[in-house]
Amino acid sequence: MKITTILSSSCFWLFVLLNSANPCATVFYKGGNEKTEELEDVKRSHFPGGFLFGVATSSYQIEGAILEDGKGLSDWDVFVHKNGNVENGDTGDIATDHYHHYMEDIEMIHSLGVDAYRFSISWPRILPNGKLGDVNAAGIMFYNSIIDNLLVRGIRPFVTIHHGDLPQVLHDRYGGWLSPLIQDDFVHFAETCFKNFGDRVRYWVTINEANLVSEFAYEMGIFPPGHCSPPFGNCSKGNSDTEPLTAMHNMLLAHAKASKLYREQFQPKQGGVIGIVVNAFMYEPLTDDERDKEAANRALAFNVAWNLDPPVFGDYPPEMRRYLRNELPKFTSEERLLIRDSIDFLGLNHYGTLYAKDCTRSSCACSGSACVAGGDRAIRGFVSTTEERDGVLIGEPTGLPICYVVPRGMEELVDYIKNRYHNKPIFITENGYSPPQQEDQLDDLLDDKRIEYHKAYLASLARAMRSGADVRGYFIWTLMDDFEWTLGYGVKFGLCSVDRTTLNREPRSSAEWYRNFLRKSPRSNNNNNNTERRPTFSFI
Ligand code: FCB
Repeated sequence: MKITTILSSSCFWLFVLLNSANPCATVFYKGGNEKTEELEDVKRSHFPGGFLFGVATSSYQIEGAILEDGKGLSDWDVFVHKNGNVENGDTGDIATDHYHHYMEDIEMIHSLGVDAYRFSISWPRILPNGKLGDVNAAGIMFYNSIIDNLLVRGIRPFVTIHHGDLPQVLHDRYGGWLSPLIQDDFVHFAETCFKNFGDRVRYWVTINEANLVSEFAYEMGIFPPGHCSPPFGNCSKGNSDTEPLTAMHNMLLAHAKASKLYREQFQPKQGGVIGIVVNAFMYEPLTDDERDKEAANRALAFNVAWNLDPPVFGDYPPEMRRYLRNELPKFTSEERLLIRDSIDFLGLNHYGTLYAKDCTRSSCACSGSACVAGGDRAIRGFVSTTEERDGVLIGEPTGLPICYVVPRGMEELVDYIKNRYHNKPIFITENGYSPPQQEDQLDDLLDDKRIEYHKAYLASLARAMRSGADVRGYFIWTLMDDFEWTLGYGVKFGLCSVDRTTLNREPRSSAEWYRNFLRKSPRSNNNNNNTERRPTFSFI
């Protein structure tokens, strides 16, 4: 089966602009697949003026202060305290204590010279009891202060309304994302954010990685509420073949309702844009066999398009309907209208590329760290993923078991998204590197590999843009070492390190590199005469 590719309108100006500004290649990257990938010495001037460079974080991963100033418990607050859920028994109780250090952190962000800061609002800090309770004024004050302090420093707030931390009461009350009742609770939360912060926030993301949350929470059982069934895992509750689909359906409808509300009641006067963020791996066929090529396309459809087709086209990918039939929830005609075209931009969190192998005709027993059990089932599109071809890794390993360094994946992914979604504006909302945990690091602050990673991925992104992709920004994950969900604090993505005892922050070499990348190379000023060819957001 072939993915329907929708030819995009071409952005030739970008091609011309970037090609002319492009210096010769200076560095070479040797990929794990023996291919030598050419790297350009990437510069800020390779990106158009108005392109946003930033750093990203999320509330639960940095804030701490889990029961301070009227905050309610999130599902993560509860989940991490159950034995065995997180490596080393780590919790986000304190995290980086950003709640008390946020002014210092904003100075750190400012010193990087970024244009924007992506962060999320903790739902239980604002609405400890969901829509049935009061708005927590202290929570509003906290985020107001962050927003105001960013703005006075010329940094744009790029706000994710929901990034993982759900009020625990919503699980207890009706089963969280498994119940349609959550849709109105989410709309109430989003409305509270638009009302309180929308006069100053121009970039909104409704939900971060609905695809990854559905999979990790309801298929593999490794995120709260920890639901799954064999062969995906051994949980006390759950059905891995159906619950992820229900959770995604409710997240998509919650997103669509919040977006409609924003567009009708806030966007006309506040003038911002609203989008959704997806976890987006790239998939390459394991072999040249047509079936593996189709498997790679299906992997993209079942992972990425599952989350993005509905807010663009109003329905799930045809590839999924074909294999899942009636298991895949249906949108009513009214819902289709509601969700269709409900985003102004799409956000991609990109961390890796894997090989895809067809499981419709061959058996797919799991091997390797990047294999997810259940490749022989409809919920996974009868695709198995792996990091190895003929015993050779697809790229250098990182601190996350399924993430390998494959810079070309960025270009391939953005190209796929450009073609499938009519060149809708894209933000790379997360891209980042964590070193393998066992790696002996003589000096934790000298993180050359992270620098090489970002250079290579940015060069790959610039190539995709030269081919016409309408990419508007790039956010590094993450500002400082944080609580990395089930992996705790062992995995370090920070441009700045955080000492777990003193909580002292210290910039790594990569922070210095980013600062120089942003400050020293002049911004492109060539695109002014081309701006009318780009669909501009009104406030840019
Ligand atoms: C993404 C999450 C983000 C972070 C990175 C490493 O999937 O959105 O919170 O943990 O992975």
